[in-house]
Amino acid sequence: KFEKIWLIFGIATLLVFLSTIGVSAFYLGNQPPSCLVTIDPEKVAETPPFNEPGLKQVGENEYELTMVASAFHYEPSHVQIPLGATVHISVTTVDVIHGFQVPGTNINMMVEPGYVSTLTAQFNREGEFLVLCNEYCGVGHHMMTSTFEVI
Ligand code: CUA
Repeated sequence: KFEKIWLIFGIATLLVFLSTIGVSAFYLGNQPPSCLVTIDPEKVAETPPFNEPGLKQVGENEYELTMVASAFHYEPSHVQIPLGATVHISVTTVDVIHGFQVPGTNINMMVEPGYVSTLTAQFNREGEFLVLCNEYCGVGHHMMTSTFEVI
């Protein structure tokens, strides 16, 4: 008799959890933050803004930075960023999964084929920052870097 009660309790709890996730995902629109747009990795080179990777000014000390990851480098491989700038970063990859991390900051994304990973960062410290790949992507993985120069 008690088994039946607990079984019903367990199933009810499960249904509550599932409906919470369902409501959150579909009604409130909560999705993994890195997956915003789907694009064909083979067409990245022709798809704006990834056909022209780099830094573009969009406002007063506000920029859009577009980067393309591929085995085993980032395009562009060096970016100059004005001190104090707010930068909206979009990254995608043309081949396999790569990482996108700037040690010493909270910039850390996974870059997946077919998706655009985005985040907004503010650069309030002068100096050179290393951008590195933290997802194993092949024999050249350890050499896969770019640099941000904040001036
Ligand atoms: Cu790209 Cu590791």
